[in-house]
Amino acid sequence: MSDTVLQQALAYFETRFGKPAVVGAFAPGRVEVLGNHTDYNEGYVLSAAIDRGTYFLAGRRSDNACILADAMHLELETRFAADDPHPVADQAWSNYIRGVWAKLGVPPARRTGFNGVIASTIPMGAGLSSSAALEISAALALRELYRLDRTSLELAKIGQAAEHEFAGVKCGLLDQISSLFGKANSLVMTDFRTLAVNTVPLASEVCLLACNTHVKHALVDGEYNERRESCEAAAAWFRERLPHPVSHLRDVSMAEWERFAADMPPIPAKRSAHVIGENERVVKGAALLREGRLDRFGKLLFESHVSSRLNFQNSCPELDFLVARAERTDGVLGARLSGGGFGGSAVVLVKKEQAAAAGESLARAFDSEFGTPCDVIALQPSDGARLSSLLC
Ligand code: GLA
Repeated sequence: MSDTVLQQALAYFETRFGKPAVVGAFAPGRVEVLGNHTDYNEGYVLSAAIDRGTYFLAGRRSDNACILADAMHLELETRFAADDPHPVADQAWSNYIRGVWAKLGVPPARRTGFNGVIASTIPMGAGLSSSAALEISAALALRELYRLDRTSLELAKIGQAAEHEFAGVKCGLLDQISSLFGKANSLVMTDFRTLAVNTVPLASEVCLLACNTHVKHALVDGEYNERRESCEAAAAWFRERLPHPVSHLRDVSMAEWERFAADMPPIPAKRSAHVIGENERVVKGAALLREGRLDRFGKLLFESHVSSRLNFQNSCPELDFLVARAERTDGVLGARLSGGGFGGSAVVLVKKEQAAAAGESLARAFDSEFGTPCDVIALQPSDGARLSSLLC
């Protein structure tokens, strides 16, 4: 399927700009498997790059214009001046690329504009990080096109800065790191303090499904930023009371939380319980995966969802329904919300031979409960972002 999408993007580039693309890059979306809202608390996450992603094709122009088009949605065309890549309200999808361009720091002497075409196979709003795939594919292609000296980690931080400053979401680095450092058939275990990335093989008898609720909370970005602030307030509260240094919630153990949280205001107490619990679950989960104890690993996913629902309060009835239903579905080992929350997709860990039946049963149940379909997509843990050969 991706080859067809790349072909379509290459053909559109040539039709639209009258000459072929010079560079191309592909960046996958991601699924968060365990570790919710832990990244900006300098904690741990288990995630995977998925087999859906975004192509970004580009070629340089001799003038100051940067023109962006979408090969699959021709109405999505926009342009900006190479020396003035400000965010816009209309065609807001392009803010991720405008932000990347602004942060890449092409030296003024080399700063002519470019033509860019995107084509994506990631469903929008499904919580599978279509925005990070856009940022990272653009960053990789433009690094190549302008011969910039930037490491992969710098590109991840550039993507994050685009989210902060051009899209207004104070996200962590999870989405960009997963998209860059994914590995086929494996989960990525990231320590967001040291930014050390390791991979843990995912046993071949299980697979992952994403069940897309199609729910998007209207104030989701504001809710996300508010959760981050609560976590920072909770870390500051512990800093005043614990005898050791606390820069982030990563530095607080569950035993410490239990000792001190009774005196804490209720909201930061709940938010920090989630993050601290998640960090402990990820560390335990990575060990269980390595030992092949998939049943116990799956239970941690269910526990994570309960904590999201009750402590972090970033779930919604549709996600709660799917997770509760998954718990009673044959072959399912674990399920939880994935990513920021407030809608998007539930991720389901399921035995491979029962995956198709489990997916159908979840989709049917969702439809009869809410009268609207939920898309179930099989996700294949995949390699991270790369330059694409333009000869296919
Ligand atoms: C979104 C953000 C990430 C991370 C997750 C929650 O995907 O972009 O940085 O915080 O939510 O774990």
